[in-house]
Amino acid sequence: MSGAGTTSGGAVPTPEELERLAGEAEAAIAAAGDRAAWEAVRVHWAGARQGRLRELQALIPRAADRKMFGQAFNRLKSRVEAALEARDAELARAEIAARASEARVDVTLPGRRPPTGSLHPVTLVLAEIEEIFRGLGYSVAEGPEVEEDRFNFGLLNFPDDHPARDAQDTLFLEDGRLLRTHTSPVQVRTLLARRPPIRVICPGRVYRNDNDLRHSPMFHQVEGLCVAEGITVGDLKGTLEAFLTRLFASDTKVRLRPSYFPFTEPSCEVDISCQLCHGTGCPTCSGTGWMEILGAGMVDPRVLENCDLDPDRYSGFAFGLGLDRVAMNKWGIPNIRSLFESDERLLRQVRG
Ligand code: DAH
Repeated sequence: MSGAGTTSGGAVPTPEELERLAGEAEAAIAAAGDRAAWEAVRVHWAGARQGRLRELQALIPRAADRKMFGQAFNRLKSRVEAALEARDAELARAEIAARASEARVDVTLPGRRPPTGSLHPVTLVLAEIEEIFRGLGYSVAEGPEVEEDRFNFGLLNFPDDHPARDAQDTLFLEDGRLLRTHTSPVQVRTLLARRPPIRVICPGRVYRNDNDLRHSPMFHQVEGLCVAEGITVGDLKGTLEAFLTRLFASDTKVRLRPSYFPFTEPSCEVDISCQLCHGTGCPTCSGTGWMEILGAGMVDPRVLENCDLDPDRYSGFAFGLGLDRVAMNKWGIPNIRSLFESDERLLRQVRG
C-alpha cells in the first residue's frame, strides 16, 4: 500500500505531492476486490490511529504555507473519503447481486406437494355405511359409551348369569356402570325414546377385556334397527343384501346361518362370499369361500315388551357389525392394533 511519495521522516509534502497521493489512494481503493481488501485499504488511508491521512494532518503545523497545505490536505481527505464510500456502495451492490443469484428460484422445477392428510380407515368405512343406510331411509342415533347394566344387558334380555356379563369380557366401573360391550344398548334407548316406524343405525366405540391380533379392548360397531308393523325375515335379508352388495363387491353373495343372541329370535350369523377368492376357497376364508361379517336377527318380543311396545303389533330386525373388521378386510390390514397406533403410513396406504 505504501507507494512512492511516502512522507518519510516527517518531511512535509508539497501540494502537488498530496495531489498525486490522492490519485494513488483512489486507484488503490477502486482496486479493492472484496470486503476484506476494502477494509485493509481503508485502514491504510483513513485509519483513525495510524492512517496516512492522520499522519499528513499532523504535518499541517509544520508546513511553510499552512493555508495552502491545509487546503491541499482537505482535498486529499475528501477524495479518499469519497472513493471509500463509492467503493463501499459498489461492493454492497455486488454482494446483494451474488446473494440473489445464489437463491434464484428455478421456476421450471415441479412444485413440492405438502403432505396431505386423510380420513382414518374406520371413519371411511363408517361414512360409506351411513351413506348406504341414509339411502334406505335410516337415520343415525348415538348413545353413551359409559352405559348402565340394564341397557347393555338387562333390557336386551341377557339372563343375569349370562357369560358376557362376566368380568372376563365386560369392563366395569366402580359405580356399577360399565363400558358398553356392544352398540345394541342404543337399540333399547331408541325404542324407549321413539315410536315405530323406526329405522336407525347406531355407530360407536365399544369395549371388551380382550387383546390380541384380531381383538382390541376398544373397537367400533354399527348397530342397525328397523321396527314397524309387519316387518319380516324377508325384510332383514333384503336389507342386508342391499347393504352388503354396496359395501363390498356388487356380485357378493350373502348367506344367513342360524345362531343365537339373547335379544333376537330367530338369530343368525351373516356371511359374505370371500372377497379374495370369490367363494372358491383360500387361506383368508380358511378354504370355506365365506367370511363371517355380522350378527342379526328378528328383535326378540321380550325386548319389544321391555320397551313398552306391543309385540303382537310391532316386529323388527336388528343387526350389528364390527367396523374395524370391515376396514381390515378392505385394505388387507392383518393386525387390528395398527388401526389405533397413529402410524401415518397406514393413512398413506388407505389413500393409495
Ligand atoms: N351385539 C352383538 C355383538 O356385539 C352383535 C349383534 C348381533 C347385534 C345380532 C344385533 C343383532 O343387533 O341382532 O356381538
